[in-house]
Amino acid sequence: MATAGMPMVPTLTDNARADVCIIGAGIAGMTTAYLLAREGTSVVVLDNGPIGGGMTGRTTAHLTNAFDDRYYQAERLHGLKNASLAAESHTAAIGRIEAIVSEEDIDCDFERVNGYLFAAQGDSADVLELELAAAHRAGLPDVYLTERAPLDSFDTGPSLCFPNQAQFHPMKYLAGLARAIKRRAGRIFSGAHVTRIERGASARIETSRGFAVTADAVVVATNTPINNRVAIHTKQAPYRTYAIGARIPCDAVTKALYWDTGDPYHYVRLDTSSRSSDAASGNVLLLVGGEDHKLGQADDGERRYAQLETWARERFPAMQQIEFRWSGVVMEPIDYFAFIGRNPLDHPNVYIVTGDSGEGMMHGTIAGILLTDMIYGRENPWTAIYDPARITAGAALEFAKENLNVTAQFADYLTMGDVTTAEEIIPGEGAVIRAGLTKIAAYRDLQGTLHQRSAVCRHLGCIVAWNSTEKTWDCPCHGARYDAYGKVINGPATGDLSPVNN
Ligand code: FES
Repeated sequence: MATAGMPMVPTLTDNARADVCIIGAGIAGMTTAYLLAREGTSVVVLDNGPIGGGMTGRTTAHLTNAFDDRYYQAERLHGLKNASLAAESHTAAIGRIEAIVSEEDIDCDFERVNGYLFAAQGDSADVLELELAAAHRAGLPDVYLTERAPLDSFDTGPSLCFPNQAQFHPMKYLAGLARAIKRRAGRIFSGAHVTRIERGASARIETSRGFAVTADAVVVATNTPINNRVAIHTKQAPYRTYAIGARIPCDAVTKALYWDTGDPYHYVRLDTSSRSSDAASGNVLLLVGGEDHKLGQADDGERRYAQLETWARERFPAMQQIEFRWSGVVMEPIDYFAFIGRNPLDHPNVYIVTGDSGEGMMHGTIAGILLTDMIYGRENPWTAIYDPARITAGAALEFAKENLNVTAQFADYLTMGDVTTAEEIIPGEGAVIRAGLTKIAAYRDLQGTLHQRSAVCRHLGCIVAWNSTEKTWDCPCHGARYDAYGKVINGPATGDLSPVNN
């Protein structure tokens, strides 16, 4: 994932000390590190992989205050005051990114564009009227209803326009943040796999290579927290989302952000950056996403990419062949608001960021603003709505639904495997095999060698599932992911899949 301009960062080769240690070099971790460093705090950022190597590198980067779970739903669950605070925080996040881009002179193709929300096929447009009124009540008076989104190739029907949204290139932005952090003496380390956080007034963050960081505060910004064993994982659920990119003539689509009301919803934008534009042909890149499903509970990525392409071609017939496709994982909170703040039941100097929903760029930036205020002991009006310890009474049904779904995954212990014997696994594929009372995650590499690990997730013991599109083992319960050989690549698990017989 080399990005032009991304500074080289070293691995951690000694113990270190900082005011604040941030785990995760995605948008949330890097924004928090930048805003803290800007105020004179010494920061160390640790990441298992490269900067932006997690979900930030997989986003389509819609910068928007068009709340993707809808303001009328937020108001129903949290009340008008809190829905208004959500709107305020999202609007502020776009503004903060714009200010950082300007202040640090970051070349990341940031530009203001309008956003359009329209009814998905089969959905009533009445929901737009509901959302329009709720958006106005939440403090977004500029939102208006228009006859259709500004697309010639596709009549969206009535559409809500959210003016003054934005888009940018997330990796170029992270590269700019990384340079700005380093200029302020912040230290960023990749290849630093955190295995343990020893809490206390002086927290100790241990890594797999034996080096540790001590710090007065810790921010865990790893998409889903690696330091919270249970509590937060009962309040959010992991979903996989898919995206494709194809060239299209630059005059075929009005530059804007587009979303439908489907569940899951489709999201569309143009990438007109110099990297993605082809000046000779006049083509730009059309990015289309959607087709989400619960992580680890479907292995039909090819079908979902095909459905996404069909949906896109019906609406954007000038689209050329697909050049890019990728998928990412979003953590969906049961009550719509992200979890940003003190880690429940932990030492007060340990903070988490998770539950980003489909708005990781916004919640990551909100986290930077909010956590900087919290660490400096400043009041912030958004603290309560994003409090990870909050209990939202109206979300009890969703809580029960998601946790029943997790409980149901434990039935995998009783079922047969995907295949009966390892001989059925072809090179480049994996499958779960029953082995007495437990299960084996077996992967056959392209040379034909079989690699076997326990299929029991190292977080809370669900059985992982093979993802033939990504070539990973995905846990259907709380979002842990492992590479084909069982090496952990995403929390909440921190350890690799166990060797068999252990
Ligand atoms: Fe929780 Fe696997 S992620 S059991």
